[in-house]
Amino acid sequence: MTQQKPRRLRGADVGIPPRQLDFRLSDEMPRWVYGDNRTATCYLALLSAFFPPGEDFFVKSVNRYANLVTDPKLRAEVAGFTGQEVIHSREHERLNEVFTERGFKLGVPDLAIRTALAVLYRLPHRQQLACTALMEHFTALLAEETLIYEGNGGDIHPDLKELWLWHALEELEHKAVSYEVLELAGNRRSERILAELLVLAVVGPAGAVAFLWLLLTEGALFRPGDLVRGARMLLGRGKALPKVLMGMPRFRRRDFHPNRRNTTALEQEWRDKLFGTDGTLNDQLRRRLA
Ligand SMILES: [Fe+2]
Ligand SMILES: [Fe+2]
Repeated sequence: MTQQKPRRLRGADVGIPPRQLDFRLSDEMPRWVYGDNRTATCYLALLSAFFPPGEDFFVKSVNRYANLVTDPKLRAEVAGFTGQEVIHSREHERLNEVFTERGFKLGVPDLAIRTALAVLYRLPHRQQLACTALMEHFTALLAEETLIYEGNGGDIHPDLKELWLWHALEELEHKAVSYEVLELAGNRRSERILAELLVLAVVGPAGAVAFLWLLLTEGALFRPGDLVRGARMLLGRGKALPKVLMGMPRFRRRDFHPNRRNTTALEQEWRDKLFGTDGTLNDQLRRRLA
């Protein structure tokens, strides 16, 4: 009798399913999709412009070490992480096209992030991976706050909100993968601290220039009322960004690990809400899990 070879684990088997979403964004969606505010919408457009090139950098820096990953579970997690990020990039590219059709000038943000990444791509491979683990720490913190805040009302227009909730859920599902691969590659605390400085020095200015450009071209810069309201929406009490920034220094702790922060209940809640029996995103999900 021939023994059947066990099936290779996939992302979906280890809780990181690349879901084939196909968002159909409504034409009715207003131009100022974030709280009807130009400043805050520029921030959202900036994040969306940065995601496709950024996530491509994450995927490359992790998969460069694929040969070190022999554990079948971690292999499947890397495959799930890769699949999820590729689909995020695709859907954000489509969203960026919608922003562009509506007049947002995303060329400068795109150039800014690509220039910043061109600098990071010149770093030693393990340093690139440490930068990825840091930025994944950022996205995981942002994802957690997005699910809590936007999931309970929030400010993003309902037509667009579910795209952000889906992305946030998957960022939490794969939050530990790049760090686990960094552990295999020889995680050094000095490189993690250097990653903080490098990302701050390289991606920080790119973000600042791109944000100012969007504020200028979207006419927010000379509307003090809009700026103040937008700043309150982004940085006010109980909002996501201050909590994310407060959580960033955890990355340099000796005992840092993304899973030290337990988000499993939050993930399960949103898996059910978005993709459970009555999941609100089931109709936008292609019947295929990679
Ligand atoms: Fe992502
Ligand atoms: Fe990610």
